[in-house]
Amino acid sequence: MYLSRSAEWSALESHYQETRHQAMVDLFGTDPERHERFSLSLDAIHLDYSKNRITTRTMELLMELVRRSEIEKKRAEMFDGEQINFTERRSVLHTALRRPPGYEMTVDGDDVASEVADVLGQMKAFCGKVISGEWVGYTGKRITDVVNIGIGGSDLGPYMVTEALKPFAHGKLRVHFVSNVDGSHLAETLRGLKPETTLFIIASKTFTTQETLANAMSARAWFIDEARSLAHVAKHFVAVSTNREKVEEFGIDPANMFRFWDWVGGRYSLWSAIGLSIALYLGFERFSELLAGARAMDEHFLNAPLEQNMPVILAMLGIWYNNFFGAHSQAIIPYDQYMHRFPAYLQQLDMESNGKRVDRAGLETDYATGPVIWGEPGTNAQHAFFQLLHQGTEIIPVDFIISLKSQNPMGEHHDMLVANCLAQSEALMKGKSEAEARAELEAAGLSGSDLEKLLPHKLFPGNRPTNTIVLDELNPFNLGSLIALYEHKVFVQGVVWNINSFDQWGVELGKQLAKAILPEFESDDPVEGHDASTNALVNRYRQFRKG
Ligand code: F6P
Repeated sequence: MYLSRSAEWSALESHYQETRHQAMVDLFGTDPERHERFSLSLDAIHLDYSKNRITTRTMELLMELVRRSEIEKKRAEMFDGEQINFTERRSVLHTALRRPPGYEMTVDGDDVASEVADVLGQMKAFCGKVISGEWVGYTGKRITDVVNIGIGGSDLGPYMVTEALKPFAHGKLRVHFVSNVDGSHLAETLRGLKPETTLFIIASKTFTTQETLANAMSARAWFIDEARSLAHVAKHFVAVSTNREKVEEFGIDPANMFRFWDWVGGRYSLWSAIGLSIALYLGFERFSELLAGARAMDEHFLNAPLEQNMPVILAMLGIWYNNFFGAHSQAIIPYDQYMHRFPAYLQQLDMESNGKRVDRAGLETDYATGPVIWGEPGTNAQHAFFQLLHQGTEIIPVDFIISLKSQNPMGEHHDMLVANCLAQSEALMKGKSEAEARAELEAAGLSGSDLEKLLPHKLFPGNRPTNTIVLDELNPFNLGSLIALYEHKVFVQGVVWNINSFDQWGVELGKQLAKAILPEFESDDPVEGHDASTNALVNRYRQFRKG
């Protein structure tokens, strides 16, 4: 039965029609237990989802919809290594990267568990050597700077995590990330670095990604310009990849290659050797804590009843707004400066996974799938785009993320940060009624037509949904759990929408066309093979290059 024609979907549609004018403030007013009813904790993570446009009945209906998708079966298939990424004939086993020692898992006859353990051992030994200074560069000096060259999943995860966990760094190494093929990214990063004390990690699952290879080549040229010998590359370039042949072709000693496997999707790869920059920056112990945190969330996702399952709840709330309220965007607002790359990280995780327009049978869906994910840290966001969240025409559900503990206690700063976070979800829920706005204007001395003219601009409709995720502390373990929470949320939504969340064919077309355009810049004659717009733009740049 097609999803949008199922009984469970129809029941939610009717329920939406019946309840869409219900105000959350009233629901709080009539139910003193509402917060307890709609919140849950797992270790150091507390999820308050009571400020949503839901009742107990809504949650029951959403749970019926998720059950209809056979989520438990699909979840088991993922954890057991079945080829759920059927368009690429691949298993999806990032969860195997964080399983406890001693588990057993084989994929296509390969002993996945021991392969994972081997690479973790290799990473641990390497980190030990680099951090202790035993690993030295070509002049005998210890490494001071690590530059991760990668893009997409080979960049966003490690970059986000190293930023988020800065207070946990051991301080013996600086870490830098170069992703953009715009030469300015590499140039600005290398400025101030010394080849003799710099280690490059070339991070690419495929080792064929144009941007990463271009940056890697230029980094190598910069290095050799100073080191004057290819033989020195071995001490300064390591690779993380699934593609040994291409790594060797590039000139990196396979002994300095950290492997992973095609059953790890790019956007799920920070738990693999792609996390090498994390492990170097924080130390291997901290990296292990990150994995342990993710494992704790995996266990919860696997074992908690659906009604008390954090990823399932977040997923179904997202579906409630996306598919029934027509809210096609979701804001992620961490009230934590260290988490400034978290929204960008989630953009790839969510939008590359669930940005799909056909279902598993190849049929175009007649329902919305992945929403637009966006956000910035609070409080900055309040002074930028919150106006639209409060008074714009769209409903945009928000996830607020805040830690109880500050990593840098400083006067009243953290109290102010927390107060702002809590105030925003309260304001989005309560809004400001006409009576309240009128009273405020009268108190400010306004009356008559002056008051009436200003009044509509001062109203806040409210009833705008939010989740608040409270961490005891932003530390490696809790961050690991938080990331895994969103990974599983995205998975559950993909299962309900009946799409393949694990391929990303949508990024290919642009790559193909860029490859075709690149050589045309060398052409002596005007380019005519595209549409008129593209021809003109290509020729404009071609002329500029000619000088
Ligand atoms: O273009 C999209 C993508 O394939 C992502 O899915 C991936 O994370 C990124 O490119 C980088 O790929 P690679 O690690 O193979 O260089």
